[in-house]
Amino acid sequence: MAMQRLDKIICAAGLATRSEVKKLIKSGAVAVDGVVASDGGMKLETGAHTISCCGKPVNTDHSRCFMLNKPKGVLSATEDREQKTVLDLFSPELRALGLFPVGRLDKDTTGLLLLTNDGELSHKITSPRHSVVKCYEALVDGELTEQDAASFAEGIELRDGTKCLPARLKLDPAEASRAQVYISEGKYHQVKRMLAALGKPVLELHRRSIGALELDLALSPGEYRELSDEEIELLFTK
Ligand code: URA
Repeated sequence: MAMQRLDKIICAAGLATRSEVKKLIKSGAVAVDGVVASDGGMKLETGAHTISCCGKPVNTDHSRCFMLNKPKGVLSATEDREQKTVLDLFSPELRALGLFPVGRLDKDTTGLLLLTNDGELSHKITSPRHSVVKCYEALVDGELTEQDAASFAEGIELRDGTKCLPARLKLDPAEASRAQVYISEGKYHQVKRMLAALGKPVLELHRRSIGALELDLALSPGEYRELSDEEIELLFTK
């Protein structure tokens, strides 16, 4: 039986920061099973109580997942002493959910990055066992060829000897220095290292999709929105 503090449950629902929750409880705005609660530290069995805040029900289903259009220049990390991280782009209420990036994009890579507070979901997306395919748009220094696409299909050997799983390089008929790369692994700097192994260093990299979930084009760089349950299912749709 999982027990959690009342103030933590309300924070995790994304309604307010820890200090705001304290004030809300003090002002009598929070009720548990219809009774006004005065102690934020009271321990409750997860999912066993009806909690309301300012008269509205608190969603105690804690799993949350957001898509971010990651801009260039921010780290895929939760915090950093010197540099801006993707968490810095989120509101304090949402940061209080305990979100973290699912896998990572390099500082100079843009596009679809998921953030969740659900370790199980994150593991499912990143674990090689589920082979979730990620699609990247790459601009390289050089011209990509059918031979390069064949090398991808065979499985690229990185310069350090690491062998990658077979992957897909879809050439752009309009521009030989551009292609889409489809991989189901998540090795460190994988796409850059795969293309570098072919002597075509990456100049720009943008993640377009994870599984069948595409980056929402309505999101400008730095903007995010929550995923629906149907969109989470798309992550595991081939
Ligand atoms: N592969 C890379 O090389 N960089 C990324 O950011 C993502 C995949």
